[in-house]
This record gives sequence, structure tokens and C-alpha cells, in this order.
Amino acid sequence: VERTLVLVKPDGVRRGLSGEVLRRIEAKGYTLAAVELKQATTELLAAHYAEHEGKPFYAPLVEFMLSGPTLAVVAEGQGVIPGFRSLAGATNPTEAAPGTIRGDLGRDWGLKVQQNLVHGSDSPESAAREIGLWFPGL
Ligand code: GTP
Ligand code: MG
Repeated sequence: VERTLVLVKPDGVRRGLSGEVLRRIEAKGYTLAAVELKQATTELLAAHYAEHEGKPFYAPLVEFMLSGPTLAVVAEGQGVIPGFRSLAGATNPTEAAPGTIRGDLGRDWGLKVQQNLVHGSDSPESAAREIGLWFPGL
């Protein structure tokens, strides 16, 4: 069965939106296979965001992701990888369509990093790699 890694990033956890994100995943019809509140480490984030190393937003992104706990979620169901990306909306919350998680719940806070509430794996290869990082042994 298809699985994706969803993260409720530290801004979402701090704002009390973890339940709202889980609600939208379940309301769409996907199943929760694992849910765990975790404090990310520099090592975990270096692996998770390896593709972004060297970009101007990399250091602020890692600093932001270290700023508090993250809710790590494995969601499953046919089409869940693109399906959750669609639920999340565009990366930039200002541009994300209403009806999406980022469009309904996110905004520009004037910071160096886009605090956009959630992460979702972008391909089957990313999903397998990221689930292995956040849930070793699952
Ligand atoms: P994720 O699901 O979090 O991976 O988001 P994404 O796939 O929509 O974005 P991407 O993987 O390209 O970037 C990862 C994260 O880096 C984003 O979610 C943002 O938090 C941040 N980010 C990406 N692009 C930019 C950018 O151009 N400027 C800034 N400030 N932050 C960015
Ligand atoms: Mg991404």
C-alpha cells in the first residue's frame, strides 16, 4: 500500500494545528499508520533536507525545524503521496489556494524561512527514504 511521510512542522505544533492536520488527512480517507511527536536533530535534518544543502534558505530552515517538536506521521492509501501534496497546497502559504492546509492556515510571517506548517514526501523514493529516517524500524 502507498505511504507518505507527513510532518507537522514546529510552527504547526506550536499553533495547536496538529489535530487539524490529522483531521484533514483522515477526512480525505487516508489512514494513519504511525504518529509520533519528535524533537528533530541536526543529523536527522541534514539527511531529510540533503537536496536543499547550499541553498540560501537551508540554514534558516534547519534552525526553524530545530525550534520545537515536530509531529511525524505516516499516512497511507492509494495516491496518498500526490494526494497529501494537494491537501497541503503550494509551498508559499501566501500563494497556496484556499481549501488547502497552507492556504487556509498559513501566512507570511516576514521571516527568512517559509513557515508553511507541513511537509509531505514528493515521490515514492522520497517517501521510502524519509519514512526510514523518521521511523527507523517501521
Ligand atoms: P516540504 O513538503 O516541506 O518539502 O515543502 P515543499 O516540497 O513544498 O518545498 P521544498 O521541498 O522545495 O522546500 C522545503 C522547505 O524549505 C519548504 O517547505 C520551505 O519551508 C522552505 N523553502 C523552500 N523554498 C523556499 C524559498 O524559496 N524561500 C524560503 N525562504 N524558504 C523556502
Ligand atoms: Mg519538499
